[in-house]
Amino acid sequence: MRIGVYGGSFNPPHTGHALAAAELIQKLALDRLLIVPAADPPHKTLPAGTPSPEDRLELCRLAFSGIPGAEICDYEIRREGKSYTVDTLSMLRSRYPEDELILLMGTDMFLSFSTWREPERIASLAVLAVMHRDDQTETWDSVCHEAERLRQTMHAQVLLVENRCQEISSTVVRRLLAFRAPEGLDPAVQDKILQNGWYLTGGQLKNLPYDKLREISLSLHKEKRRAHVQGTADTAAALAEHWGDDPDTARRAGILHDITKALSEQEQLDLSAKYKMTLTPLQQENPKLLHAKTGAVVARDIFGESEKIFNAIWWHTTGRAEMTLLEKIIYIADYMEPNRCFPGVELLRDLAWKDLDAAVFQGLDQAVAHVRKQGMPLDSDSLSAWNYYRNITERSLRL
Ligand SMILES: [Fe+2]
Ligand SMILES: [Fe+2]
Repeated sequence: MRIGVYGGSFNPPHTGHALAAAELIQKLALDRLLIVPAADPPHKTLPAGTPSPEDRLELCRLAFSGIPGAEICDYEIRREGKSYTVDTLSMLRSRYPEDELILLMGTDMFLSFSTWREPERIASLAVLAVMHRDDQTETWDSVCHEAERLRQTMHAQVLLVENRCQEISSTVVRRLLAFRAPEGLDPAVQDKILQNGWYLTGGQLKNLPYDKLREISLSLHKEKRRAHVQGTADTAAALAEHWGDDPDTARRAGILHDITKALSEQEQLDLSAKYKMTLTPLQQENPKLLHAKTGAVVARDIFGESEKIFNAIWWHTTGRAEMTLLEKIIYIADYMEPNRCFPGVELLRDLAWKDLDAAVFQGLDQAVAHVRKQGMPLDSDSLSAWNYYRNITERSLRL
């Protein structure tokens, strides 16, 4: 028999997993495909809202129920400690001594294969089948190079299998679940998740203490944005202290200000439709601008934050005339937090502690110049903000 082994955290299992399973059974002519959810994956920490390993096993049963040949295995769930692939394959080899084992993995996992526990032994126990999408051209050379290296150094058998697996990932699915806009899930899986309030869907996100709010906010961001979000929260709190606003409110607004930024342009549009937001033509053409608007709605409706915070997030990209103190603080904190590095940032940092309106004008002026340089149309709120703060700044210079 040819037995495929498809491991992963399946957190949660989505339609991309099911599609990949069906396609690989056919392409690799597998007699069986064992789906092996990890109890405690060695390479990652499972985020807030993750259901128990047994519940993920149940979600896998639902997600793969329509795929002939797919079988859900509880080996790693039943085993104590970290879920190492080498242990699973050793067990499968003793159970199926005569059969061919084919270990399936995505390109990211394949490129880190050398760092797994006992990679040589894994390569001696199973054929490695690397699934890649035809749009992953940027990693293709690395994958081919690594395949050749493993063949030479470990005598590994490596198959490169093109598959149509959807671009969706469990991380994206979790984000969309948290924002109450689920996508990419089998209806039975989605129902089970919502019934149990898993993946932050249970309404438990309102009025959280700051530490918990921070943990959840950071878990919904992409890795590379976390430092920026934290920097904005800390800078906003310091500016609030300095200018006489409430630092705790500023910190909460800062940690949430980019909460939907990780969504793709299409997901921004879908979320805006879901929240029944009316979009300007400019926003429709540039969905990246929408993260301030969808982020504000998420902060208010899902995290239960105040109108004051809602407005600070809503206006944080465009600004507007007559901004409140908190709106100005978030606008500037986003611009000048310690991870920002662009010509003029030092001037902005200097002004922010001396004259907040002048700092806001400086930020707007740079933003307006940038948009004009790119030949893009200017948002009307940004333009009225720019005029308003230019007048204020000129007036104070005259005095
Ligand atoms: Fe932003
Ligand atoms: Fe930001």
